[in-house]
Amino acid sequence: MSKSLKILIIAGARPNFMKVAPIIKNIRSRSTVGANGNAVEYRLVHTGQHYDEKMSDIFFEELGIPAPDINLEVGSGSHAVQTANIMTKFEPVAIQEKPDWLLVVGDVNSTMACTLVCSKLGIKVAHVEAGLRSFDRTMPEEVNRLVTDALADLLLTPSPDADENLRREGVPESKIKLVGNVMIDALVSNLDKARARELVPKLGLKKKEFIYVTLHRPSNVDHQDGLTTIMTELKRISREYPVVFPIHPRTRKMCGQFGISLEDEKGMKILEPIGYHDSLSLTESAKFILTDSGGLQEESTYFKTPCLTLRPNTERPITITHGSNKLTKLDRLSADINEVIGLRSENTKVPPLWDGRTAERIVDCLIQAS
Ligand code: UD1
Repeated sequence: MSKSLKILIIAGARPNFMKVAPIIKNIRSRSTVGANGNAVEYRLVHTGQHYDEKMSDIFFEELGIPAPDINLEVGSGSHAVQTANIMTKFEPVAIQEKPDWLLVVGDVNSTMACTLVCSKLGIKVAHVEAGLRSFDRTMPEEVNRLVTDALADLLLTPSPDADENLRREGVPESKIKLVGNVMIDALVSNLDKARARELVPKLGLKKKEFIYVTLHRPSNVDHQDGLTTIMTELKRISREYPVVFPIHPRTRKMCGQFGISLEDEKGMKILEPIGYHDSLSLTESAKFILTDSGGLQEESTYFKTPCLTLRPNTERPITITHGSNKLTKLDRLSADINEVIGLRSENTKVPPLWDGRTAERIVDCLIQAS
């Protein structure tokens, strides 16, 4: 007799969207009943953690993600308020939908909140991008990762270092599945569209002759001295190489509060948050990247574009050991930038299983574990 497998998928914030897109695409490609009698169906819940057109809607359009079946519209708030709102609004949905699996991705508040809800309802949880650790509990995402992985039933990991972290925490081997990096699935299938937008010439830039910057973490943008140092340094480099800086709402707000002007140098190209395709094309074509994002450390590794990550640690060490990433900090920023400008990174490697077929392995794992 045929059996249907129902998966409830959560997307909440910008970095989630490129992870759920390939998984949904793969499930839809299997919509007929397979040889084992399994049909896979899904429902997509958007928590509304990110809600601006440029932080959310554009990603659905560009990545071809079907409109969410349910939008919880939680919006912004302190961590406690946002997490609690997601839990309160998601619990009745989980009860009504009765999925076989909750599938969560990444490390944002939505990931942890929905995991907590389903874990207590006895619904199995699968976590995509499990096992990453920065070992820095001052990062809200690290707390989200620890809680999510402690509760999840299936831990789908992007790299062997993640498996090691989980083993060290006592997670049984049977729960850990190395599937690779699903972000790279999205990257591979969107590269032609990204290139076709020709953003680099449209901005009046030349390939490998500009710097792509993204910064949004509270630890970098919420302190006046730190943010002033960063912006002063960016303005300095912009006299040599144009700096393209699509600005996260939080960063724009903090610059305003601290009275930091954004565009007093000709080479500073401050943009509104950009879409996925434009970000991919800037990542591929930049001379180097300065970021505090998790995803850009991985995407730059794929493109072999040098990347400076303005953080004391990374939960993605493979981007350093294999890839083109290097950590930096405020008092070394100027020296590291001068060094990276002269760097060639052709010798870096793309990690194993970052091959564009991770979504297929994820859905296979869910079917096998059911
Ligand atoms: C969240 C994730 C972070 C991820 C980042 C990517 C957590 C703990 N953090 O951080 O891991 O790297 O997304 O962007 O889940 N805002 C808007 N419009 C929006 C969304 C947010 O203006 O659509 C503003 C609000 O002022 C809000 C602030 O940005 O208070 C921060 O949003 P929030 O969702 O709390 O966290 P992010 O900093 O975006």
